Amino acid sequence: MRDLPKIELHLHHEGAAPPSFIRGLAKEKGVDLSGIFTEDGGYAYRDFWHFLSVYEAATSVLQSPEDYARLTRAVLEESAANGVVYSETFLSPDFCGGGDIAAWREYLAAIREAADEAERDLGITLRGIVTCIRHFGPERARPIAECAADTAGDWLVGFGMAGDELKGKPSDFLWAFQCAREAGLRITVHAGEWGGAASVRDALDALHPERIGHGVQAIEDLALVDRLAEDGIVLECCPGSNVTLGVFESWRAHPIETLRERGVKVTVSTDDPPFFGISMTSDYENLARTFGWDEEVFAEVNRTALDAAFCDAATKEKIAKKLGDSAT
Ligand code: ADE
Ligand code: ZN
Repeated sequence: MRDLPKIELHLHHEGAAPPSFIRGLAKEKGVDLSGIFTEDGGYAYRDFWHFLSVYEAATSVLQSPEDYARLTRAVLEESAANGVVYSETFLSPDFCGGGDIAAWREYLAAIREAADEAERDLGITLRGIVTCIRHFGPERARPIAECAADTAGDWLVGFGMAGDELKGKPSDFLWAFQCAREAGLRITVHAGEWGGAASVRDALDALHPERIGHGVQAIEDLALVDRLAEDGIVLECCPGSNVTLGVFESWRAHPIETLRERGVKVTVSTDDPPFFGISMTSDYENLARTFGWDEEVFAEVNRTALDAAFCDAATKEKIAKKLGDSAT
């Protein structure tokens, strides 16, 4: 399973930071982060909302473009070791320069340089999606969208929203999403991880994303499932994340297979893998074990992901060759 070529569309850059990497940075900078680690060296949190605050505490030691360059290398080494050939990562100018455009440009340049180097050394291709953070509020999202619009292009390809889905409404963020869309950025929104089917509807109606981050709680409303299928909305499913955080009580209870059977375009990603003790390999193994997914299903899911990727056609062609078929 590890060697199967994979595409990952939903990965939070800081959420992919190995705990040992964050511990090392904290030590270098003299920051006491002991409270966020378990005794055996993983991240410690009680539930999703505590996870978000531990995530932000871990992120606080990433303080310079150089720190993000090192993080990018560590993240891509781990992804490549799990067979990922193409990845889209969520970046937040909130964390990279505090929403200041000049600072954001420096962070982005450092991340891109590290990604280019990893592409040469490891054969993995990375593209970026800027996310605003829902619980930071719509006013904060405006400069973040301006940062995204200012750097939109062949590498920074999308705009989205992460964070606490139970705070605020998607329509509050209309200005930010319009700004990003006008700059040519493609749109994905986290919804239906915690907020139920209604949250997916709200995101679709207000922000018209082509992809939904998670979206799996749409299963509560079969009319909505039909709408997702008919409109070709792609779900960035993160089943290992959902099971670990308790969105569903077990792999068996996860709706990814039912959604797929009903014609929804599902893809597989890991969200924040070291926080959940998972990897693309372990998620694929669990999907095979639980739902009997075989190479054919994984090939279909990866073709869907490549179609839904926000990169340009030339990049898709190159990645299609790595998938071993003509998926464009
Ligand atoms: N940020 C990082 N991981 C997240 C998740 N699973 N949901 C919402 N925001 C996040
Ligand atoms: Zn996410």
